[in-house]
Amino acid sequence: MSVHVTSGPGPAATEGATIKRLSVPEFAARKGAEPLVCLTAYTTPMAQRLDGHVDLLMVGDSLGMVLYGFDSTLPVTLEMMIQHGAAVCRGSKRALVVVDMPFGSYQESHEQAFRSAARIIKETGCQAVKLEGGREMADTVAFLTRRGIPVMGHVGLMPQSVNTLGGYRARGRGDQEAAGVVADAVAIAEAGAFSVVLEGVMAQIGQAVTARVPVPVIGIGASAACDGQVLVAEDILGLFSTFKPRFVKRYAELGAEIEEAAARYAAEVRGRSFPGPEHIFGAMKKHG
Ligand code: KIV
Repeated sequence: MSVHVTSGPGPAATEGATIKRLSVPEFAARKGAEPLVCLTAYTTPMAQRLDGHVDLLMVGDSLGMVLYGFDSTLPVTLEMMIQHGAAVCRGSKRALVVVDMPFGSYQESHEQAFRSAARIIKETGCQAVKLEGGREMADTVAFLTRRGIPVMGHVGLMPQSVNTLGGYRARGRGDQEAAGVVADAVAIAEAGAFSVVLEGVMAQIGQAVTARVPVPVIGIGASAACDGQVLVAEDILGLFSTFKPRFVKRYAELGAEIEEAAARYAAEVRGRSFPGPEHIFGAMKKHG
């Protein structure tokens, strides 16, 4: 990767620099090497902040819960993913951008999956799509990759299957379920996926899948043995407080900072100390 940027986040730090976005083959070639750093991003300003620090920006359908307040990812539409995917591409220059295929946009047929994925790639400018599913989706992954669409898989805990799985509990507690998760990851990689997200599984499964699969395995609640890690940015920043899964580590408490800032603003507006003379145009006439 040729990135002539040494430090600092945000657009100002990259101005005038020669930057090449990390490509799908470059990402895939990092199997077993330095851990791959991945975070979600849904908006241009967040992408601008994160781009200098990560290898991959994931426009996840988790945006349905994090940004829109839905209680699952199921209501998310293709149009929503395209709008947010395009915003993240506009806000980033160096990270690989992967956009999630939302529920209902790829399960019906290979043709439906191709049409949806092609729209995502054409209308956002992202480099790849991600879809959930194991052995049952392997044919679809092969169909897409043979037609020029790089696919990232997603196995283990699959949030789009919340109704069939009956909740968001970690997968692979019994031998049979564990073997199933490994078989799913192997099938998706053999079908041509350039990388696989492994979510919410027992740590031994994270190790086993990473050892078995020849492409980078990106863990989310799946052990430190994975080739990389992904988390939801709002989770690590303390901006999404509906619930905190065990695998999330908080690196900031921005939610609390926002509330403090809003409270200070409210107090100053009510006490007429904001706006001050430096925030208004022209001189105020003295009364009385
Ligand atoms: O929807 C999402 O954000 C995801 C990542 C966390 C892997 O699938």
